[in-house]
Amino acid sequence: MSRAVICGTGSCLPTGKLTNQDLTDMVDTSDEWITTRTGIKTRYISGRGEETSKLAANAALKALTMAGIGAEELDIIIVATITPDMSMPSCACLVQQQLGALNAFAFDLNAACSGFVYGLDVAEKYLNSNPGLKILVVGAETLSGRINWQDRNTCVLFGDGAGACILTGDDSGRGMLAAELYSDGRLFDLLKMDSAPSMNPEFAVADYDGSYIKMAGRDVFKYAVRFMEKSVAAVLKKAGISIEEIRLLIPHQANIRILKNLADHLGIAHEKVYINLQKYGNTSAASIPIALDEANREGRLVDNDLLLLCCFGGGFTWGAMIFRW
Ligand code: UT7
Repeated sequence: MSRAVICGTGSCLPTGKLTNQDLTDMVDTSDEWITTRTGIKTRYISGRGEETSKLAANAALKALTMAGIGAEELDIIIVATITPDMSMPSCACLVQQQLGALNAFAFDLNAACSGFVYGLDVAEKYLNSNPGLKILVVGAETLSGRINWQDRNTCVLFGDGAGACILTGDDSGRGMLAAELYSDGRLFDLLKMDSAPSMNPEFAVADYDGSYIKMAGRDVFKYAVRFMEKSVAAVLKKAGISIEEIRLLIPHQANIRILKNLADHLGIAHEKVYINLQKYGNTSAASIPIALDEANREGRLVDNDLLLLCCFGGGFTWGAMIFRW
């Protein structure tokens, strides 16, 4: 049976850096509060010429180089993002144009912070029926443009960036072993980002105050731990694998306390949990692929290692996935 294998990874951060100290000049906060409550120390912020599509294309180029594949060989481009450069065309089409990947078809996928993992699952479905395909999956965000910089509850949390991987089919036993994805739209109100008001007066929102991220942090925290834990248990069961066999867990990077809680609930050693949120903050759909690329380049994964991904985001959307590397 052919499975989706990751044969190249890449990532890209914008040049602007914002420290916790910088944030103390903007809102009533402190390095101590941000560090102890979130684990975040710095985050990267996009400037001119660093739109989501640019970060995505740069990350993709690095992944293509690692995979030894030319852009024109790509068959499908999937970009997971909630901050595309524009509503239409898709960010994926802009990435296609920048890469010169003219033989691919391209589309965006919105599953908030879970988007990259959802994208991998979609790629797997294509590769099951056509293992020869070469698929680019990117998670890319510039959330800095969608943050209310006067709101200390949210502005300290997020950062910009992109991560990418190239997938192709393989029948050696390596690749994606199992995935469990979920969503629950009933909880949409706890974590959301309004779009610009509708041009149609019928749909005008009376209290619209900007297309900013809004979050009920404490509730989201509890759901994140509970739902990621459940999805990991489900995917381990599906794959017939125990948590002890996992070499590396790469979770969505939102809050160090969420990750420590999750690790304790799962009974996985903390040193097996990859954490880089101190450097980048929460980069939404980009967080897992950036961490995956870093872990890969650091040599944290060798052939046949079992890799566990788990995600959680607005929607709510969440899930877990296992690869044999
Ligand atoms: O990517 C999607 C998933 N997102 C997440 O998983 C995020 C989940 N939530 C969280 O990470 C945490 O809930 C936060 C980091 C957002 C907040 O941490 P918390 O420990 O839940 O704090 P809180 O919201 O309960 O607020 C505690 C206090 C409040 O003051 P009072 O009401 O106790 O006087 C806040 O006003 O901390 C205050 N506060 C701040 N103080 C200094 C909130 N933000 C800040 C801040 N600096 N930046």
